[in-house]
Amino acid sequence: MLRLAHYPPVPASIAVGSLRAAPHEDINLITLLCEATAPGLEILTQEGQWLPIEASPDQIVVDTGDMLQNLTNGLFKSTTHRVVNPVRGNQRRLSMPFFVHPRPEVDLSPRPALIERTGGQARFPRHDSRSIPGAAVAGNSDCPGLRVEIPLCLGDSNPNQPLTVDDVLPPPSQDMVA
Ligand SMILES: [Fe+2]
Repeated sequence: MLRLAHYPPVPASIAVGSLRAAPHEDINLITLLCEATAPGLEILTQEGQWLPIEASPDQIVVDTGDMLQNLTNGLFKSTTHRVVNPVRGNQRRLSMPFFVHPRPEVDLSPRPALIERTGGQARFPRHDSRSIPGAAVAGNSDCPGLRVEIPLCLGDSNPNQPLTVDDVLPPPSQDMVA
């Protein structure tokens, strides 16, 4: 699902400490972000610090979401992020996030191999995407969910055993490949 987000200029009367987007995590598998027209995106690091993120024109920011966190039993944490107000209030911001969702029939339960790699206990619920609020948007029959083949190495906990998308998604049937 591709979305265009417009953050209008901020009036001078805006309350101190207000944000363009409050801290949150995306519900989908991953979010792909190309360069926005203005800065403001920040992610929360594992050390609890807000880190400004700016993509250059030749970069894509890959943001993990709740569904990938669930599939990997927490090996990949859902990225907490926010959008802060501009330094110059009259600066608008446009961004174009691409939310990658599975089809609704994809089981998002933690994968056995990932449970094994994260201590042997399932720490996230078994469910499919239809049980996640908001996921129905991607599963709507008028807007079929998208399966994207990404040659992406996801693993970093054990460099000798990198994860790939095949580790966390079931093998595609022919009709599932977009
Ligand atoms: Fe978001």
